[in-house]
Amino acid sequence: MFIGREEERILREGGYLAKALEAIIKVGDAVKADRLLDVDTVHVSGVSYLTIGEAGLEYLRDISSSGARFRVFTTVNPAGVEYGNPNLPISEHFMRKQMEVVDYLAKMGASLWLTCAPYEFIRPQPGSIHAWGESNAVAYINSVNDAYTEKLPGPFTIIVAIAGKVPRFGLYVEENRVPRVIVKVNARLNPVKAGLLGRVIASKLKGEVPLVDYEGWDGQLLKSFLASYATYSPTPLAIIKGINPNWGRYAAMMDKPDKLTVDEPELRYEQPGDYDALFMGCPHASLGEIMTVVRVLEKHGFRRLRKPLVISTSRFVKSMLNPELVSRLKEANVILITDTCPMVSPIFNGLGIRSTATPSSKAIFYLPRLVNVNAMPCNIEDCLEGILDNT
Ligand code: F3S
Repeated sequence: MFIGREEERILREGGYLAKALEAIIKVGDAVKADRLLDVDTVHVSGVSYLTIGEAGLEYLRDISSSGARFRVFTTVNPAGVEYGNPNLPISEHFMRKQMEVVDYLAKMGASLWLTCAPYEFIRPQPGSIHAWGESNAVAYINSVNDAYTEKLPGPFTIIVAIAGKVPRFGLYVEENRVPRVIVKVNARLNPVKAGLLGRVIASKLKGEVPLVDYEGWDGQLLKSFLASYATYSPTPLAIIKGINPNWGRYAAMMDKPDKLTVDEPELRYEQPGDYDALFMGCPHASLGEIMTVVRVLEKHGFRRLRKPLVISTSRFVKSMLNPELVSRLKEANVILITDTCPMVSPIFNGLGIRSTATPSSKAIFYLPRLVNVNAMPCNIEDCLEGILDNT
């Protein structure tokens, strides 16, 4: 791999920066990168104490006490608890360990956004270089903004944040981003079907980049589709016709593409059976998604729900809600949690939730595997109507 003058100087000077760069060069050699790229932003994933445990905590303790500091703007994925909230059904031990993880990242200079939808607040420029670790966010900025990032492992994103450089490989190379298959979608999507579409397309392709042809995208459909697609596909990029700013240029670069269609029957799903709670916010719910819930509740006089609706979102989105509205939601049995990924948190178990209905295909994949919570598909508006208290 080509090493430039700046990199040679860093290596000569030694210290934590040189160590980080050495590790990146080793990875670059392993993935057959040709050179290093300067990154604009890093998004660190894998920060829940539930998944990284003592070994991960020790890694962060060691690296932060070495004096290492992040050179580029760095944000952080959700963790296992709401940061600093002592009123949750979570053990004090877990809370303390989780705070320690987050504090080490803050010490190194991370911005504690603690959200898996940082793209709601950062709009990366087409062609700009990033090093993100959260698969839905990687797929989103690759596909919607045509920003360049690979899906990087969590510990590696920390090293990249220190060095500010990433090996040029995979989706950092333009020719690897050119679609090979045109996928025509003959269906009318809702958020559940958009998630199913991600799974269907990923299963029909073998990691090739698709050019997805569907009219009628909105922000929620894109999020749902891409989160699911990135869960099932090894390649976190789908060029979306009419959405990716360079989709026309990519289309012109396609050479004898394969074609396939996805029809409505492939996206059918059963209505959920019995469940303990509704869940939305995988990826973290936007203001618009929360306001969809508010509108349904308003339509029915803010009647209390018979089962809780758990919404995971970012602290930014919550701060945009009027405190009076937050109280009304709480009275209606809506549990708003911030900073947290329920898939890597003891929170569902703490709340006694064993089964959920959710519009998120990604949550349906991970909840049973990671926290032993059963999950089934449901369009949130339909399910809300079904659990309004009629007394
Ligand atoms: Fe976010 Fe966790 Fe889902 S990180 S995308 S809420 S699996």
